[in-house]
Amino acid sequence: MLRTHTCGELTKKDEGKEVVLAGWAHNIRKFGKKAFVDLRDRYGITQLVLDEKLKDIYDSLTKESVLIVSGKVEKRKDINPEMQTGEIEIMANTLVVASKAERLPFEIFNPSVESTEETRLKYRYLDLRRGEMQRMLEFRFRAEMIIRNYFQMKEFVEVETPQLSKPTPEGARDFLIPSRVIKKNFWALPQSPQQYKQLLMVAGIDKYFQIVRCFRDEDLRKDRQYEFTQIDVEMSFVDENDVMALAEGMTSVLYSQLLGIKLDKPFPKITWHDALDKYGSDKPDLRFELSFVDVTTDFEDSGLRIFEAAVKGGGVVKAIFLRELLTRSEIKKLEDVAKTHGFPGVAWVKYDGDELSGSIASKLTDNLKQKFSKKKGTTLIMAGEWLPTVLALGGIRLALGDKFNLKKGLSVLWVTEFPLFEWSETLKSATPMHHPFTSPLKGFEAHLGEKISKEDTLNIPSRAYDIVINGVEIGGGSIRITDHELQEKMLKTLGINKTVAQEKFGMLLDAFKYGVPPHGGIAFGFDRLLQVMLQTDSIRDVIAFPKNKSGRAPMEDAPSKADKEALKELGLRCK
Ligand code: AMO
Repeated sequence: MLRTHTCGELTKKDEGKEVVLAGWAHNIRKFGKKAFVDLRDRYGITQLVLDEKLKDIYDSLTKESVLIVSGKVEKRKDINPEMQTGEIEIMANTLVVASKAERLPFEIFNPSVESTEETRLKYRYLDLRRGEMQRMLEFRFRAEMIIRNYFQMKEFVEVETPQLSKPTPEGARDFLIPSRVIKKNFWALPQSPQQYKQLLMVAGIDKYFQIVRCFRDEDLRKDRQYEFTQIDVEMSFVDENDVMALAEGMTSVLYSQLLGIKLDKPFPKITWHDALDKYGSDKPDLRFELSFVDVTTDFEDSGLRIFEAAVKGGGVVKAIFLRELLTRSEIKKLEDVAKTHGFPGVAWVKYDGDELSGSIASKLTDNLKQKFSKKKGTTLIMAGEWLPTVLALGGIRLALGDKFNLKKGLSVLWVTEFPLFEWSETLKSATPMHHPFTSPLKGFEAHLGEKISKEDTLNIPSRAYDIVINGVEIGGGSIRITDHELQEKMLKTLGINKTVAQEKFGMLLDAFKYGVPPHGGIAFGFDRLLQVMLQTDSIRDVIAFPKNKSGRAPMEDAPSKADKEALKELGLRCK
């Protein structure tokens, strides 16, 4: 080793020791004939004292240069209680500048000095020098260790599955890789190991898990990356409660060991329908209540045209009641939220204890006037087809949560019974809400085999569940279809004929002919879980080398053009 100690461990007990430290020049302060250097490594900072004999070196010393210093540990006169090593300093004997740092592209440790995320990503290796970032990487690694240990204790086997494979139907676009050997053919990077983990069940590995990289070519957001990590799980001879109990165990162990937070088990459950109907989201943030009140019948004969029309058309009228008296400008902001959901605005009624005001106040029937004058506050009302209406009001609910700072504490829950299908306007047909191997809820099997109309798409519940923490979808899974005939019916409903089914999922359909155990599983988004645990703004903050917002890697300057020779070898030409 080039060092005897790290920069975070020397205390007054080490007084008098001759030591060698190595690290980065965090701070350099020159005073008369002396210089003080804060030497930093992953473990901490130690103050070095350089006297006149080292003047030639310290005069030209630059911040962030790598130094190797030998010297004696001395007690400090001015103790710094904030620092682990604040009682001592090193009287330097020799100092070697192992690598001189050039002028830095940004102030690494001074967040008050503007630097864009783009610059920090371009020089990610510099940004990762920050203690906060290093703690994040350590946290991530500790989480992985805890997870592996948890699954090992439960007799799971971690199995690696291929990264070069066929497309996997998780609903995103695939990353394709041209095959050099078999021209005009492509590999796909896995969106998830879904089919492989099900094949492992056929193989008799009844408890599988894997911490695995997945790839999805979809538009990036704060909680989405092209490549991300799943904690992927599959189990045989189980129902949804077994999978949920296992997932709850893992989540609880992580929270308690990493954050010292005890989670109450079992986690609460809410069906997909109720989550939308009450909170307007399939990942409701229940750190605060603000649930919807159904006022459909109140508006049935209200004389208010839009509301009556919505009810007559089979729609709903939903309201959120707030104790606060919202101002016009606050309501304007909520209207903007409604607009992003395709609504012209939001109706509102305000009662200040004296009189009623608001966008529809003057048009209300006496009955409704009375209803809205019971409690002081503001009621926000939306009407229309059920799903778009609750989603829009759900957006408003979240905006109110932000506005009134209600998103405090922790909310962990399961959303269950997701619909098996959702309607695709592009395909003009039902598509799987989860993936085509998800089992319908018991009793709904008979609905499969025929085409599903737009109206019926959401009416067939499945055995799929999501785990939601603080309004973020952290993981999802389901009990699978293992009946060969039912699987064929499912594919038929999706308009996938036998030839296409064989082409796309042949390996799974074939395997199911040779003895398949009932099974189910779940996959956690590991990055999202860490983001929620560490309460950071984006999953980019918990990934060592993430892509930027627009899907580029600024540090690597990727993606980049391929050279002509490489393309030729692959039999490709760029248009
Ligand atoms: P699903 O598609 O729901 O299920 O993915 C599981 C979890 O992975 C995370 N996730 C992502 N995280 C970051 N960036 C992305 N682009 C991204 N996409 C998904 C989410 C999500 O809940 N094979 C099934 C699981 C199963 O059925 O067992 C699957 O992949 O947190």
